[in-house]
Amino acid sequence: SPAPLRVLVTGAAGQICYSLVYQIASGSVFGKDQPLELVLLDIPMMSAALDGVVMELVDCALPLLHKVIPVTDEKEAFKDVDYAFLVGAMPRREGMERKDLLAANVKIFKSQGRALAEGAKSTTKVIVVGNPANTNAYICAKYAAPKISPRNISAMTRLDHNRATAQIAAKAGVTIDDVKNVIIWGNHSGTQFPDVKHAKVNKGGSATDAYAAVGDEAWLKGEFISVVQKRGAVIIAARKLSSAMSAAKAACDHIHDWHFGTPKDTWVSMAVPSDGSYGIPEGIMFSFPVTIDAATKDWKIVQGLSIDEFAQGKLNATLQELQEERDEALRACEESNI
Ligand code: NAI
Repeated sequence: SPAPLRVLVTGAAGQICYSLVYQIASGSVFGKDQPLELVLLDIPMMSAALDGVVMELVDCALPLLHKVIPVTDEKEAFKDVDYAFLVGAMPRREGMERKDLLAANVKIFKSQGRALAEGAKSTTKVIVVGNPANTNAYICAKYAAPKISPRNISAMTRLDHNRATAQIAAKAGVTIDDVKNVIIWGNHSGTQFPDVKHAKVNKGGSATDAYAAVGDEAWLKGEFISVVQKRGAVIIAARKLSSAMSAAKAACDHIHDWHFGTPKDTWVSMAVPSDGSYGIPEGIMFSFPVTIDAATKDWKIVQGLSIDEFAQGKLNATLQELQEERDEALRACEESNI
């Protein structure tokens, strides 16, 4: 069997990781023949809980899991990693201003970007899940460069992508596999634009576009978009905890497709540093439809999709929010002298 991959998961004592680490260790992400060394990072205060997660992973008796390494030291965590799931972040507490939350997270991702540059393999691939995910990834990429290419750093919008796919499948009366090529544009936030103009639905054996399959333009341009945008908040209200199972599954899908490539004629949504496509300024960590080549593990933004006036307005709004977040984050970077 191949040499083990070294996979880092941060926030490993938290909610999302409780679902995530099992899925990784059991082979759902890198395949059933790929041995793994799992490095689990959390903050020192969480070290007892982290040990509990390690004990459970050991007790799962998973043949692919060659090593589990709990750490509370960032430098040690990032050493030689092939893949990193950056889930840990400063949670929003009651009464906390957005600005304070952003500043706290900028500190974490500045420091983790540097740790990546210092220790990780130059080929390492990174998914940022911790919120605000796009901006955290932007800061991480800034401090990991030039040793780590910004192309190796991404933020997760796959949960939004999966939510959109599931909504369309339910409305069209088909199963998940019958829906492909939805798009999430922009920020993982309330301004994201879930777009099904280019999506395909397989209904009764023939592929049609999603608008025809659903047959309800008002729903597609209204309720559908807001259900996907607000799903996270609705789940918090129902569960009193954030969506952890579905977030973990989405993170696995994201890295699985990066590692194995996207199937022919299929794209997925990932927030990546813009190359200027669709008028999005270069470097902005923006969610796009991407295809991934299995051999090079390099993503490409899908080109040539038509953007109508309705879509352009939505793209502008989410871009503006991302630029504001980026500027605030850069200011916080200058102010923090770590
Ligand atoms: P949680 O609060 O249960 O766990 C977070 C863990 O991160 C805690 O154990 C905490 O100690 C740890 N942590 C904090 N700072 C750290 C640092 N500097 N290094 C390492 N670990 C650190 O939170 P949960 O529910 O697991 O969510 C994690 C993050 O994912 C949150 O920021 C949440 O908003 C975000 N999220 C993102 C989604 C997306 O679609 N992009 C979807 C759902 C959640």
